[in-house]
Amino acid sequence: MAIKNLLVTGGCGFIGTNFIRFLLEREDFQGRIINVDALTYAGNPENLAGLAETYAGRYVFQKADICDAERLRAIFTEFAVDAVCHFAAESHVDRSIKRPDSFIQTNIMGTFNLLEIARSRMDSFQIFHHISTDEVYGSLGPTGQFTEETSYKPNSPYSASKASSDHLVRAYHKTYGLPTTLSNCSNNYGPYQFPEKLIPLVILNALEGKPLPVYGDGKNVRDWLYVTDHCEAVWTIMNAGKKGDTYNVGGQWEMENIVIVEMICDILDEIIPRTESRCRDLITFVKDRPGHDRRYAIDFSKLRNALGWQPRESFASGLRKTIDWYIDNRPWADRIRSGEYQTWVKEHYGG
Ligand code: NAD
Ligand code: DAU
Repeated sequence: MAIKNLLVTGGCGFIGTNFIRFLLEREDFQGRIINVDALTYAGNPENLAGLAETYAGRYVFQKADICDAERLRAIFTEFAVDAVCHFAAESHVDRSIKRPDSFIQTNIMGTFNLLEIARSRMDSFQIFHHISTDEVYGSLGPTGQFTEETSYKPNSPYSASKASSDHLVRAYHKTYGLPTTLSNCSNNYGPYQFPEKLIPLVILNALEGKPLPVYGDGKNVRDWLYVTDHCEAVWTIMNAGKKGDTYNVGGQWEMENIVIVEMICDILDEIIPRTESRCRDLITFVKDRPGHDRRYAIDFSKLRNALGWQPRESFASGLRKTIDWYIDNRPWADRIRSGEYQTWVKEHYGG
């Protein structure tokens, strides 16, 4: 498939940033990327600074809200968009519990707008890839894994909004024949992740000697995937996935939250030895997240067997790289951890 003009939504967020950087370096993509991002609190244009010059003619940024259908339509026309990779979303579960409104707008209505415009350009349209989450499947007990056949049972406003958008994508393929693919991925980590999420939050709090908040008993389990592995999976599916199909993506690194926090502490103590205390002393158990899903685990054998993808990064090496990145990029994090971020921390964690 030779995509000419790929519209990437949410390219200034965590995974979108990594995806754009990943794609521009690939030989099998010679098209142009049009990055559409509304620059919410989670979008940071600094992540992609200089790309328009380095990749002249191959990277364009358009500040736009995917809820603004008219503006979107104009962008599709101006840049002759023939493919979409849709990352833009309100992505933080805790925020969806406090204020679900923007999740409904962006995740459902924004996806609907993109699908409608893609449908109206079907003659020249190649692929609409929708990025989704394993959270649509709900929560697992101590055993078992989510497969593509697992029924949807979303438990948070975030996951319910993502589930709705997934259903719309499926319907646009079935009803209108729109060439779609969809991936449901587990927890990502790596460079550029907004520090409201567990791993960067803990790294940065630890570096600043602040409490490391662990919800409930800390034994909730997530499956962790290094972000570049996710980018590779998305590109593989966009190119070789069966139209109308969904693919699970995971890292096969199931970890309890408390174990991750302790690992981060031990690595930091090794890199920056403390004299009077240990990083683990900062661990603070706090009130649990309402409706907190207990365990996620992903069976990605469909993607491995059909398209040959599998994760490359081990959790130990990925975590180490991530910690190094946050240490090397303190000014990036410092700029984010002011303003709106402080308001969120006060509101959510108190004090
Ligand atoms: P993020 O919160 O870091 O970034 C989201 C980006 O979308 C930001 O740049 C933001 O400005 C932009 N955005 C938000 N609302 C918008 C709107 N109305 N119009 C245009 N742009 C808007 O999110 P992320 O962690 O990079 O996640 C990207 C996608 O991957 C999301 O769809 C998320 O549901 C999905 N996902 C994330 C993970 C994870 O672990 N982070 C795992 C599986 C799936
Ligand atoms: O599973 C994929 C999902 O992973 C994505 O769809 C979401 O966009 C992404 O935000 C992520 O959701 P989680 O809720 O799993 O991520 P978060 O980093 O918020 O939390 C990870 C785990 O750590 C979860 O069990 C809650 C816990 N936690 C989180 C925070 C922020 C804490 O114990 N303390 C915290 O302060």
